[in-house]
Amino acid sequence: MKNQLSEAQKKQLVQEANKARRFAYTPYSRYPVGAALLTSNGEIICGVNIDNAAYPATICAERVAVFKAVSEGHRSFLAIAVVTRDGGSPCGGCRQVLAEFGMDTAIIIANESGEILDEMKVSDLLPRAFGSGSLQP
Ligand code: THU
Repeated sequence: MKNQLSEAQKKQLVQEANKARRFAYTPYSRYPVGAALLTSNGEIICGVNIDNAAYPATICAERVAVFKAVSEGHRSFLAIAVVTRDGGSPCGGCRQVLAEFGMDTAIIIANESGEILDEMKVSDLLPRAFGSGSLQP
């Protein structure tokens, strides 16, 4: 599968992220986020944010999706859709986690009405990333 998604694929990914968003656990932030990650072999793996009373233990939707996918054997991703009420952008920590698995992964930002507001690649959101190459002696 090429890293050029059809409009139908993008729409489906946003729909899945929006569906997952209903399961976000956000008693403190009141900011539900849904993410849907498309693997290179065509699977869609979703994640939601999970708040915690100890605030720093909160985890973002994007990271839940990536960690679920990696723990199920996936390491190659074509795209991730992120749905929030207002089209919020992935945080720095999530950008770094996405970068670990490819700078070309497409990021699709949408709002809760399913409107796509922005599209970019991980490389656009995290220029000059620290990556595995940075650890070479
Ligand atoms: N959040 C995400 O799920 N993804 C992001 O990239 C930014 C922030 C969540 C974490 C927390 O549950 C809430 O949004 C407010 O920060």
